[in-house]
Amino acid sequence: MAILEIVKYPDPLLREICEPVGDNFESIKKLVDDLAETMYANDGAGLAAIQVGITKQVFIIDAEIAGHEPTESPMAFIDPEILWLDDEVETSEEGCLSFPGIYVPIERAYRCRVRARDVSGETFEAEGEGLFARAIQHENDHLNGKLLADYVGRIKRKMIERKLAREAKGG
Ligand code: NI
Repeated sequence: MAILEIVKYPDPLLREICEPVGDNFESIKKLVDDLAETMYANDGAGLAAIQVGITKQVFIIDAEIAGHEPTESPMAFIDPEILWLDDEVETSEEGCLSFPGIYVPIERAYRCRVRARDVSGETFEAEGEGLFARAIQHENDHLNGKLLADYVGRIKRKMIERKLAREAKGG
């Protein structure tokens, strides 16, 4: 396993549309392990492959947020497809490892259902609510090049860009 470098906004790589994994599963187990180690090292709740520069439809969500025992491995979603979004919405502050120190209030469906494959290639469906549903929607956005900065107005976006530029310089 390896801790990988996280791609930070406004790197244009984060805007790419991720490719399906399809049948190319050989390297996926290692990728998911590396994502897990990188997520924990950065105290994150979820991480998409594109955030470490791999433009594949893969993301992970922390086990506890996914409703599993906290000691379990993060839940992996490969080639996910959101099947249903609840009409009921909730607004809550959201962060992202590609936006260190930034939190943005975002309205999301309170529940959602997703179909994906796990690391062994098995298809599963999961239904989440609250934080889990939010994490699924957030990570799924990454696969389509959509980011926290797209949920704020122009002025707030400029503030975010300035803050991240300052931090990138170490100041
Ligand atoms: Ni994110």
